[in-house]
Amino acid sequence: MKKSDLKTNKNPNPAVDALVLFGATGDLAFKKLFPALARLALRNQLPASVIGLGRQDWTLDRFKDRIKDSLRTHGEGVEQTGLQELLKFVSYVSGDYNDDSTFSKLRTALGTARRPIFYLAIPPGLFATVVGNLQQSGCAAGARVIVEKPFGRDLASARKLNAELRRVFSDRAIFRIDHYLGKEPVQNLLYFRFANAFLEPVWNRNYVQSIKITMAEDFGVGSRGGFYEEVGAIRDVVQNHLLQVVSLLTMEPPSRHSIDAVRDEKAKILNAITPLDRHSVIRGQYTGYREEDGVDPGSRVETFAAMQLDIDSWRWAGVPIYIRTGKRLPVTIAEVTVKFKLPPQNVFGEVGVSANNQLRFRLTPDVGITLVTRAKSPGDAMVGEALELSIASAEAKHIMTPYERLLQEAIEGDQTLFAREDGIEAAWAIIDPVIGEDREVESYAQGSWGPSSAARVGPIDGWYNPIVGRN
Ligand code: BG6
Repeated sequence: MKKSDLKTNKNPNPAVDALVLFGATGDLAFKKLFPALARLALRNQLPASVIGLGRQDWTLDRFKDRIKDSLRTHGEGVEQTGLQELLKFVSYVSGDYNDDSTFSKLRTALGTARRPIFYLAIPPGLFATVVGNLQQSGCAAGARVIVEKPFGRDLASARKLNAELRRVFSDRAIFRIDHYLGKEPVQNLLYFRFANAFLEPVWNRNYVQSIKITMAEDFGVGSRGGFYEEVGAIRDVVQNHLLQVVSLLTMEPPSRHSIDAVRDEKAKILNAITPLDRHSVIRGQYTGYREEDGVDPGSRVETFAAMQLDIDSWRWAGVPIYIRTGKRLPVTIAEVTVKFKLPPQNVFGEVGVSANNQLRFRLTPDVGITLVTRAKSPGDAMVGEALELSIASAEAKHIMTPYERLLQEAIEGDQTLFAREDGIEAAWAIIDPVIGEDREVESYAQGSWGPSSAARVGPIDGWYNPIVGRN
């Protein structure tokens, strides 16, 4: 089922006829966008022309070599066929983003295209300049724009950025990308919740004890030290990816009758989350971070964060949501655990057992859903054991990459999977009180689960440490 089936209104955005990639010589294009475009080319989903735009004074052949290199390293399965298809569509325009002549060249390269889409894979500080120049050069008429995260640095800058974009583009023409929303298991959160009747009666404060979300990575900041110094873990993944996950888990059912149904409900629930305060957040930094390339030797930027969120809503009041994320943790994994309350009576008099049902959603690296139940152990005594009912899908993550899916949606003009202005601002409002604080961070050993003080803001029964390969 396509997300657009959720709505009855016609999609007001017709498909685009050209795609322009700003930042075409950069890292994101190299690692994610070219492989996604090659996959789309193979499925005949590309518009008539794909124009790379970058500051490097490259020839078209040099640009094509870059695409070839990208697919060799990151284009598993499409290195050959995808490359040949994609190369048929591409051209390259070089120039400075501040220079009018770059945009005149772009205008010429666009030819007869009437509905281009501009992908801004460039530092956010350049958005306003580029958007202004697109307007002045006449390139923005009838166009759409895709903007990469981070969308601002805090609530005030996100509002400013939204205002700058809105001066030139209508909200229907702005696609704010969060690649987590293109992930198969993240989409499944929405599907699983609202396609199963058994869940709704228990999906609330009467039955759910807590929700825990862990997003762990075993690698450090690598070559992204300079970027990371500007953001830190809370801005990098909590404000966007993890709050999107929270909103999908806790939102009310979307109405079938509105084109913005899902985004309306997500914004509503994000607005109901109480803004964080410093006592509900632990910030950590892995040992050795300060020696990474591009990192300030006295840096207080967090590479780990653990926090408790509360939702002030009829459905969720009193149910704590625990979030924990970090780099250089023992494994790379993302998982949600919804823990249910105990049955009202201990009918079988079992002592010392954890009889809570749980529902776990594995988001990365594998995809799976596990329901933790209890069942009677064979024998004459009425005693039981935990029984895990698991479904895992090894193929799910190979069907479409997140960027492939999101680019396709943007090309088709479907905004369902893109964050909306109000949702983004609501997410910033939650974390605004705890970012930008010049506070000491607690150091933690590489390969550990973060500073031990994370327990202070965590669940009473402790954080659950997921294991790769076991759902
Ligand atoms: C990015 C963050 O948005 O998401 C990275 O900037 C993080 O720091 C990445 O590693 C995680 O996404 P994925 O899809 O690789 O799990």
